[in-house]
Amino acid sequence: MTFSYQIKSLEKYREAYQKSIENPEAFWEEIAAHFTWQKKWDTILSYNFIEPKIEWFGGAKLNITENCIDRHLANRGEEIAIIWEPNDPKEQVRSITYTELHKQVCMVAQMLTNLGVKKGDRVCIYMGMVPELTFAILGCARIGAIHSVIFGGFSAQSISDRLADAQAGYIITCDGAERGNKTINLKSVIDDALVGNEQVKKVIVFTRSKIPVAMQKGRDTWWEDEMEQAGQQVEKNGVVSFPAEPMHAEDPLFILYTSGSTGKPKGVVHSTAGYLLWTNYTFLNVFQYQLGQVHFCTADIGWITGHSYIVYGPLSAGGTTLMFEGIPTWPDAGRFWDIVAKHKVNILYTAPTAIRSLMAFGLEPLKNKDLSSLQVLGSVGEPINEEAWHWFSQHIGKGNCPIVDTWWQTETGGIMISNLAGITPQKPAHATLPLPGVIPVLVDENGIEIIGNGVSGNLCIKQAWPGIIRTTYGDHERCKTNYFSTYPNLYFTGDGCLRDEVGNYRITGRVDDVLNVSGHRIGTAEVENAINRHSGVIESAVVGYPHDVKGQGIYAYVIFEESNHNQNLTKQDILQTVTRIIGPIAKPDKIQFVLGLPKTRSGKIMRRILRKIAEGETQSIGDTSTLLDPNIVDDIIAGAF
Ligand code: WT7
Repeated sequence: MTFSYQIKSLEKYREAYQKSIENPEAFWEEIAAHFTWQKKWDTILSYNFIEPKIEWFGGAKLNITENCIDRHLANRGEEIAIIWEPNDPKEQVRSITYTELHKQVCMVAQMLTNLGVKKGDRVCIYMGMVPELTFAILGCARIGAIHSVIFGGFSAQSISDRLADAQAGYIITCDGAERGNKTINLKSVIDDALVGNEQVKKVIVFTRSKIPVAMQKGRDTWWEDEMEQAGQQVEKNGVVSFPAEPMHAEDPLFILYTSGSTGKPKGVVHSTAGYLLWTNYTFLNVFQYQLGQVHFCTADIGWITGHSYIVYGPLSAGGTTLMFEGIPTWPDAGRFWDIVAKHKVNILYTAPTAIRSLMAFGLEPLKNKDLSSLQVLGSVGEPINEEAWHWFSQHIGKGNCPIVDTWWQTETGGIMISNLAGITPQKPAHATLPLPGVIPVLVDENGIEIIGNGVSGNLCIKQAWPGIIRTTYGDHERCKTNYFSTYPNLYFTGDGCLRDEVGNYRITGRVDDVLNVSGHRIGTAEVENAINRHSGVIESAVVGYPHDVKGQGIYAYVIFEESNHNQNLTKQDILQTVTRIIGPIAKPDKIQFVLGLPKTRSGKIMRRILRKIAEGETQSIGDTSTLLDPNIVDDIIAGAF
């Protein structure tokens, strides 16, 4: 089987791109014809970026699980949908065929129905990287429940905020998660998150780690017991079925929380049809996926990369997706390479931070590792520096695998700017060209479009693409303010960007108060709020600074009420507080106690100055005369790390 909408040459890319811009409706209608619809559309696209309101395939009905599973059953039922590599390499690998995936998803759908979950209900999923996580996601989609996956590294407080925001009535979790030599007690985190919560009716617990857990009568129930019962219900005379709920094209599929420049994470909402088309189209074209290939995306499904390129993209294509439970450095730094050799991985999609951390171990972990199955490499999450790009290309790709540098965001649903593997030219550290359907524009701070090549500006997108964010859950106004108000009629990405002499794009990083730490998005305001909740802290300001492995590190300036406290102890306490309130990923790398912060006369913190100090660029701080107290800057410089 080949995919007729897979672009096979630079010339065809140009043609497709041109058509997608001139006539997006005709372009996407042709692609939509390849999917399974319960009812065809009345309209193809109507949108405005003012309210904003976006509608793709108006009037159409479909269920995404029929597209990701059922339609592959006839010809590909016995092909492997999911390969699961456990944390411990000595444990048994699991291979799940499409037929088995169908059965498991029907069972989850039945189980959720038995427990009272209805179309439109929000189900929060807090699990480690086990196949049941994918079954849970697709089981929700089968009945039209909106899944909201929360990354396993978030704390009870973060979960509790997200549960409240999504008004989630149900949770699916695990007893524990296996990560390296640690077992993380997920259920107990959920128990803490649920103190005082009156919304959650049921908690389903999958047994992964066989650790003791508290089970609250009436609320908590075991996955295994519920699934056994559901299994009997969905199977009649050896035939497994569970009807896929007819969903409107624009019905929400999931909510995924992400950080912005305010203190509160936003629940990004994606729709059904548009998201399906976008993840499928970008997956097939960027990676040039061929049926039978093994696709290994190293992200966690708790982030958008995992949603789009572990679950929906590969499965909608009938492909084989590899889920890895563990971490790249356990039992040793050769783990990724062992996985590639063991499963004959063809496509490896990972993050610059992972590449840099593995580079630091040198070439020893690569010795005797057979990487000859690799055909395409991919990078995502942050700008990839040239050194990491070349190392990846030379030592992992052995000089003959194209690297796709894929720029996109939680809000875009799928890849927006990237070369197409082996088809369009690559350029180290450049995401290069937009996917068909994507019109990038660079604007200056007054919102004036910057025309021509060899220029830089703030990156916006003109025209709606199928995977675009539809709303922020429960607060549409916020979606409007965040993305559609800075520049009228444009979607604003929050990223700065260069366009080189021939039109290649290079994303330079966030221009708002959002940090990118190891490819994870963290709002400075969120970290500040957490630090400020520690007793004795009067005020804090958080900025990013260049970090060799993480891309950006977190630098916190803290005003503490007592001057003669034990600084080392206080730092540990602050780290503990941040871990409690957000999670370990938001822990500052550096904490500097200061007597004051550089503020303007109107009381605004001058982060520009704090950033310069954190970067060690104290020579280029610039004008400080507008500060309320310019002397404060010298004090901070004197105490900086
Ligand atoms: C931000 C989005 C989208 C998947 C993972 C992150 C940065 C992402 C690249 C890239 C340079 C990149 C941007 C973007 N980013 N990919 N290839 N080159 N920067 O999703 O958490 O929503 O973060 O990640 O700054 O805005 P996210």
